[in-house]
Amino acid sequence: MLHFKAEIKENIPVSKNHYLLTFTPLAKTPVPLPGQFYMIGIGNSCDPLLKRPFSILTKSDDSIRILYRIKGKGTTLMKEMKTGTVINVMGPLGNSYPIPKKKHTPLIIAGGIGIASVFYLAEKLKGKAIVLYGARGKHELLMLDELRGLVKELHISTDDGSYGKKGTIIDLLNEFHVNDKHLIYACGPKGMIRAVSEFALEKGLKGYISLEENMACGIGACMGCAVKTLKGYKRVCKEGPVFNIKDILW
Ligand SMILES: Cc1cc2nc3c(=O)[nH]c(=O)nc-3n(C[C@H](O)[C@H](O)[C@H](O)COP(=O)(O)OP(=O)(O)OC[C@H]3O[C@@H](n4cnc5c(N)ncnc54)[C@H](O)[C@@H]3O)c2cc1C
Ligand code: FES
Repeated sequence: MLHFKAEIKENIPVSKNHYLLTFTPLAKTPVPLPGQFYMIGIGNSCDPLLKRPFSILTKSDDSIRILYRIKGKGTTLMKEMKTGTVINVMGPLGNSYPIPKKKHTPLIIAGGIGIASVFYLAEKLKGKAIVLYGARGKHELLMLDELRGLVKELHISTDDGSYGKKGTIIDLLNEFHVNDKHLIYACGPKGMIRAVSEFALEKGLKGYISLEENMACGIGACMGCAVKTLKGYKRVCKEGPVFNIKDILW
């Protein structure tokens, strides 16, 4: 069942602009895969326009966590949602990150809130992933303690140098010794994803990127989220959000 009701267990700030939402589905729902997302109904449940897409951060036996950044109307309302509130959720939706073959070392590259999309992947890879994680400053580095316990290596950059290496995630990537054993998984702002894709193509590296587009239906019906690829227009909500790194036409 894709539509379900869920009860909010917790909705807490983890930085000035970021919140962690935990909810318990009130019905049996499919187990999500890393990279998939949920459309979350905010405020008046009769208003479908207010459903917004969020990646699965983690899934436990009885609850699902979402990490979100306050952006506009929907997320500003979302941060006010109280424990015990019942919300409408749709999902899990979209495709997922393909699991790497044994010969590959997963190299996860996360920029800003992009960490929300790859965190569950890092967890599923059980200590095998190398993670490059960049943010504007120390205050925007999220879930660090949990992340450290999940990965093989964690390399951090901040634009202002307040934590880790000073510079962008692309600077960090340029300094990292990549080789053809690395399989890239990237999520973050569009400019960063494009730069990672160009880097990968130039070096002949394989990998996947997760894209974010504004979504209306979330289930492939409206074409509102279509992006241009080598194989024609593809819907981020249906054929994505995960795409082969070489397929997107920027
Ligand atoms: C697959 C996917 C996964 C994502 N995962 C995460 C995540 O894990 N964490 C995270 O923080 N963000 C995530 N995002 C981004 C997140 O969905 C947006 O930040 C969020 O939708 C912003 O909503 P907002 O209402 O606060 O912002 P707004 O800017 O107000 O709205 C977002 C967009 O929705 C449209 N919109 C707004 N109001 C209406 C309306 N009334 N009717 C129709 N359209 C409207 C507008 O086009 C607007 O650009 C993800 C996005 C995608 C596609
Ligand atoms: S949001 Fe409607 S087709 Fe993707």
